[in-house]
Amino acid sequence: MSAPIPAQSLPVSPGATDLRDATDITGRTPRRVATEAILLVGGKGTRLRPLTVHTPKPMIPAAGVPFLTHQLARARAAGIEHIVLATSYLAEVFEPYFGDGSALGLHLEYVTESDPLGTGGAIRNVAHRLRSAPGDPVLVFNGDILTGLDIPALVATHRRSGADISLHLTKVPDPRAFGLVPTDPDGRVTAFLEKPQTVEEIVTDQINAGAYVFTRSVIDMIPAGRPVSVERETFPELLAAGAHLQGMVDSTYWLDLGTPHAFVRGSADLVLGRAPSPAVPGRHGERLVLPGARVADDAKLSGGTCVSEGAVIGSGARIDGSTVLAGARVETGAVIKNSLIGAASTVGARTVLDGVVIGDGAEVGPDNELLAGARVWCGARIEAGAIRFSSDQ
Ligand code: GDD
Ligand code: MG
Repeated sequence: MSAPIPAQSLPVSPGATDLRDATDITGRTPRRVATEAILLVGGKGTRLRPLTVHTPKPMIPAAGVPFLTHQLARARAAGIEHIVLATSYLAEVFEPYFGDGSALGLHLEYVTESDPLGTGGAIRNVAHRLRSAPGDPVLVFNGDILTGLDIPALVATHRRSGADISLHLTKVPDPRAFGLVPTDPDGRVTAFLEKPQTVEEIVTDQINAGAYVFTRSVIDMIPAGRPVSVERETFPELLAAGAHLQGMVDSTYWLDLGTPHAFVRGSADLVLGRAPSPAVPGRHGERLVLPGARVADDAKLSGGTCVSEGAVIGSGARIDGSTVLAGARVETGAVIKNSLIGAASTVGARTVLDGVVIGDGAEVGPDNELLAGARVWCGARIEAGAIRFSSDQ
């Protein structure tokens, strides 16, 4: 993997206010607050397998750089300087890539759980690295969210409302895979229902968007040294105890990249410029081809397709809305749509892929046809013409 993009090449996102210039609760006196953040990056990413077999979800490249780069760059553009990464699964790969964070203008620290502590346990486990005073706001981000959230606005909401925790909420057509967060007319959270199991529980289309502001002292109240789910334990228990949880609905771009379909969509949206990030390594457009990739003159790349370093795209290939990772080979006349092609894998000539994940190092021979949802495991081999979803005539 190449080095992170230097800080000086990361512009502050348009419209984003710098957290260091945030106003205090009266809305008058400018206060300079060095806000810090916790990034939760320890999940196993099981829904993204086989891509997460060798690579933790936040390190899978989206628009040519590990996805985490986009989150770090947006946080920095909002004025955050100190970020603690809560790692667990494949923890060892983060620090060699991002180091102390200075290339991104950040001070990064890493805290690894030997056994996964869950979202709440992970937040509690890094508390000793925070510098904030008990009443200060600390940002917490899920590590798989691509969003245009106005981060300073969330902090401002937190200060203005005097909440213990403030949550970014977004509306989705099908909320069942998320945490449901109904609010009262003032935006105060009335319940937290993680992954509802029954229709009766689907009381709102407002969901937890995976970005929070915690008042520092609330983090210190989470039990230490055991697994805790912030969604299933901390939030419901705090609500029952009368704590003030405040929601901020922000209907900007938002996507959880936890599934192959969403990951491919997010990467393409970054390339197309629909999803905001200061860290896309090139101009927005139909395609992003990284240095060291080779694309035949008559190959057609569209819909935000990204081709990583060392990948080779053969003559007449057509690739739409897809991500081709480093060192992959797409041979002559292959047709690929909405798919993720793993590092150093091969897609044979005339093979058709639509909505498919090819694991690292897999070889899909020529004249195959794989459709929606197929996942080819890392290193697997599919013979020429072995699988079709339609007649070959
Ligand atoms: N360090 C650490 N340790 N991190 C963890 C652990 C752990 O044990 N478990 C999960 N994480 C991290 C993941 O890496 C991810 O960045 C984040 O916590 C959320 O975990 P996911 O596995 O992606 O959860 P989800 O998508 O099913 O649900 C969460 O996100 C939704 C929004 O996308 C919940 O917070 C929902 O309430 C929310 O709606
Ligand atoms: Mg998720």
